[in-house]
Amino acid sequence: MCGIVAYTGKRNAAPILIDGLRALEYRGYDSAGIFLSGNLEAKLPSKLVKAVGPVNNLASKITDAYSGTAGISHTRWATHGVPSKANAHPHSDESGKVWIVHNGIIENYKELKQALQTKGYKFASETDSEVVAHLIVDKLKRLKIEQAINQTLKELRGTYGLAIMYDKEPEKIFAARMGSPLVIGLGDGENFIASDPTPILRHTKNVIYMNDGEMAIITPDSHTIFNLDNVQVNREPDQIEWSVEEVQKGGYDHFMMKEMMEAPEVVKNTLRGRLLVEDGMAKLGGLESVKDRLRQIKRIIIVGCGTAYYSGLVGEYMLEEYAGIPVEVEVGSEFRYRKPVIDEGTAILAISQSGETADTLEAIREGKRKGALTIGIVNTVGSTIARDTDAGVYNHAGPEIGVASTKAFISQLTALALFTLYMGRQRQMSLVTGKKIAEELLDLPEKIKKILDSGNLANIKKIAEKYNKFEDFLYLGRKYNYAIAFEGALKLKEISYVHAEGCGAGEMKHGPIAMIDENFPTVAVALRDSVYEKMISNIQEIKARRGPVLAIGTEGDEELAKLADDVFYVPKTLEMLSPILSVIPLQFFAYYFAVLRGLNVDKPRNLAKSVTVE
Ligand code: AGP
Repeated sequence: MCGIVAYTGKRNAAPILIDGLRALEYRGYDSAGIFLSGNLEAKLPSKLVKAVGPVNNLASKITDAYSGTAGISHTRWATHGVPSKANAHPHSDESGKVWIVHNGIIENYKELKQALQTKGYKFASETDSEVVAHLIVDKLKRLKIEQAINQTLKELRGTYGLAIMYDKEPEKIFAARMGSPLVIGLGDGENFIASDPTPILRHTKNVIYMNDGEMAIITPDSHTIFNLDNVQVNREPDQIEWSVEEVQKGGYDHFMMKEMMEAPEVVKNTLRGRLLVEDGMAKLGGLESVKDRLRQIKRIIIVGCGTAYYSGLVGEYMLEEYAGIPVEVEVGSEFRYRKPVIDEGTAILAISQSGETADTLEAIREGKRKGALTIGIVNTVGSTIARDTDAGVYNHAGPEIGVASTKAFISQLTALALFTLYMGRQRQMSLVTGKKIAEELLDLPEKIKKILDSGNLANIKKIAEKYNKFEDFLYLGRKYNYAIAFEGALKLKEISYVHAEGCGAGEMKHGPIAMIDENFPTVAVALRDSVYEKMISNIQEIKARRGPVLAIGTEGDEELAKLADDVFYVPKTLEMLSPILSVIPLQFFAYYFAVLRGLNVDKPRNLAKSVTVE
């Protein structure tokens, strides 16, 4: 998720923009850049500065000679193109007439770029964003700037938050919003544009939240908003009463809550531009270069650690059932010390949110040494694992700040479903099956929103209060939800520090049931699926030993409510996609449980967000 800060007024823009970018650092980024208007009286030219790494690297390049009173700036969280100066924003065309910063994903950038290159335009970056600058300049040949921007926006598909400058009108800043938040900050003789109020709060509490499909023009003394039909929109500013930290968390108490609430958007962004529903296919551009090799693959070894490993366990069931490929799943820390049998018919699929987990990285390198094809499902663009694998699929889940992985896990499962569709349709999967999976994937965001309904969450919080007195939990699941038993247990133990044990429900009678009594509750994932009856038997065995049972059930399953002490319901979906829904109540249960104990859910003790050591 990139950050945008823009300013026009009477003060020197550079320090205002740099401080603003620092306020947006919480969003995660890999590079930053700034474009400052010139100062005509002082005969100072406009200035572009970019830097990879922290905002301080950019700040160190800004001398106070730059006294432009307007500028746009950006912290980049790479989606298309690795972190580099060339890919850092702002972007322009080679004439330097128009400068843009962008947050979002332009889905149709490839065709737009090809059309512009045919017209002779030269591109300086690998980003999708750069096409916006060239499109505007191309239209400037026959339109005024406002219309050139308006017509450009109508050609874009995907999401954007844009701030734009035009060299003929240096004190104006143009903004546009579609799917990526933008706010206008109203100051005294100065105005701002930003991705959220954080960088603005120190200057003004008067902000106007732009809506999707709106454009805005700000000058030091004016702001105008209109829709893409050029109809002016008048909206009163809001008074922001939040602190900076509260704004960074979107008004939630913790990043973890904010990230769990992002789940519907995250699934949409993971799927964006990647489903060909009518063909029942997945379009994964990142696998294009190895498409033919993937067709020859006879076996897949999935490697990951922690939550990423658990997503791999779900992927195993998906790929075996729907792509007919033998799969094994390994924790990175074990795989690298085994003597794995690998040949050119083996693909290693590495799953990693950070893309820097040492054990997963070494597992890939070991596989490459033995000739395996290596694929990554990674959230952090340009990370080591992303660069070390032969090809891959980026999650596009945005930066995950909370140490306990939540939205990234949901994105990993979604990406694995896309990968299964891709591999299955290369093999025996029928058009009908492919289409069914694609349609069910598209329905997921709305189904997740139903789970996130405030009444539902209040129920989960109430149940977390009821179970807060316990110190031990058993989590049970089977088949597609076998991994959810382990992931649900991991969520609880890593943020509340209580003993929570994941267990395949079929294994319970081989030992773990000895622990069960009235002080040892069980969380059981018992959806209306192919193993439902087995799960009901497990729950009955537990109840017979006075064990409290907290079940995850399918909406409308009243039988389950008669058996379990408490039930969280989730909507019905394909069994292979059900873990994407069943994990959500368990994430919130762990969150509320830990908050009730006064613990720091974003930064649990002893844990790091990315384990880059062995
Ligand atoms: C998950 O909540 C944990 N924070 C941890 O298990 C994490 O999933 C694991 O360290 C793997 O990280 P990665 O996805 O960045 O490789």
